[in-house]
Amino acid sequence: MAEKLVVYDSYFGNTQRVSEAIAEAIGGIAQKVDAVQESDLEGLKTLFVGSPTRAFRPTPAILTFIKTFEPDKLTGVKAAAFDTRIPKDKTNSGFLRFMIKLFGYADKHIEKALSKTGATIALPSEGFGVTDTEGPLVEGDLERAITWAKQI
Ligand SMILES: Cc1cc2nc3c(=O)[nH]c(=O)nc-3n(C[C@H](O)[C@H](O)[C@H](O)COP(=O)(O)O)c2cc1C
Repeated sequence: MAEKLVVYDSYFGNTQRVSEAIAEAIGGIAQKVDAVQESDLEGLKTLFVGSPTRAFRPTPAILTFIKTFEPDKLTGVKAAAFDTRIPKDKTNSGFLRFMIKLFGYADKHIEKALSKTGATIALPSEGFGVTDTEGPLVEGDLERAITWAKQI
């Protein structure tokens, strides 16, 4: 049980790093999505959910996690969504930039799913960059994540 929880998924550790920095900044706990138990959500006041962007979307585990909540399960909880992604200026392919324009990133999908749980979206979603598929994070983006998260 934690009052402030950061639930994340991560393949290469970048979203995990961001999540742990956010958890430290808000005085909460970061937990990988597959380790979260129902009891972890008891007494919850603040929930961040973060995912790597994969094919313009969050990971299946993150979407399943949010979508299995009963409606109103998170009523009264302040929530915010974030992702990691390859920023546009690091994307060489014009075709990919076009696809990104059409389909976007994971953060909006998470935010939309969260808003259906009764949670209050307390902070507009945000994305943090990786310089390549496996990282590292874009310089300054860990600090940007901390500044962003503290606004909740
Ligand atoms: C299969 C696959 C699909 C990806 N799709 C996207 C994408 O649509 N948009 C994007 O910006 N980055 C994409 N990426 C890059 C990931 O966002 C990047 O690997 C991730 O942010 C790293 O986070 P992690 O270390 O927590 O796994 C993709 C990476 C992989 C391996």
